[in-house]
Amino acid sequence: MDSMIVAPHSGMPGTQLEMNFMETKVVERTLSIIKPDATRRNLTGKINSKFEEAGLRIVAQKRIRMSAEQAGTFYEVHKERPFYAELVEFMVSGPVVVQVLEGENAIAKNREVMGATNPEEADPGTIRKEFAVSLTENSVHGSDATDTAEKEISFFFAALEIVV
Ligand code: CMP
Repeated sequence: MDSMIVAPHSGMPGTQLEMNFMETKVVERTLSIIKPDATRRNLTGKINSKFEEAGLRIVAQKRIRMSAEQAGTFYEVHKERPFYAELVEFMVSGPVVVQVLEGENAIAKNREVMGATNPEEADPGTIRKEFAVSLTENSVHGSDATDTAEKEISFFFAALEIVV
């Protein structure tokens, strides 16, 4: 087996935990949200199966009802986009399940499992292809980079809530 450097689990959300210099095998964490269109249709378990089958481990999870203020702040990066108000309204329309997923290259892997943002462009077998209703009601959100993953994880979770 290749030598592996294992960083102590500092409890810092979203940081790289293990690095294998032979294969640049990087264990990452990413934030996932199962959106109201999916919780409404009782799809949490089916979506979680997709994550777990892809090798992503759910190391934190809670079902919450987001406030308009929380949703607005979470999606602040899209504030100037024409879909912002509709997106915030949708995200508070029902419960969401916020999660931390951990695994090798978790950020990219999760994006692969989710499929394209627009379900019409998503590959067969992806969550959005199978379950999404529309571009806004697209069943899941996932962080898009290491810096956003760290920020988004700490938006919802304290370090002690993440259990490996
Ligand atoms: P998500 O990955 O949560 O990031 C922003 C969300 O905005 C996106 O998924 C969609 O739900 C929603 N959205 C609505 N319209 C658009 C659009 N035209 N482009 C990108 N995202 C959109």
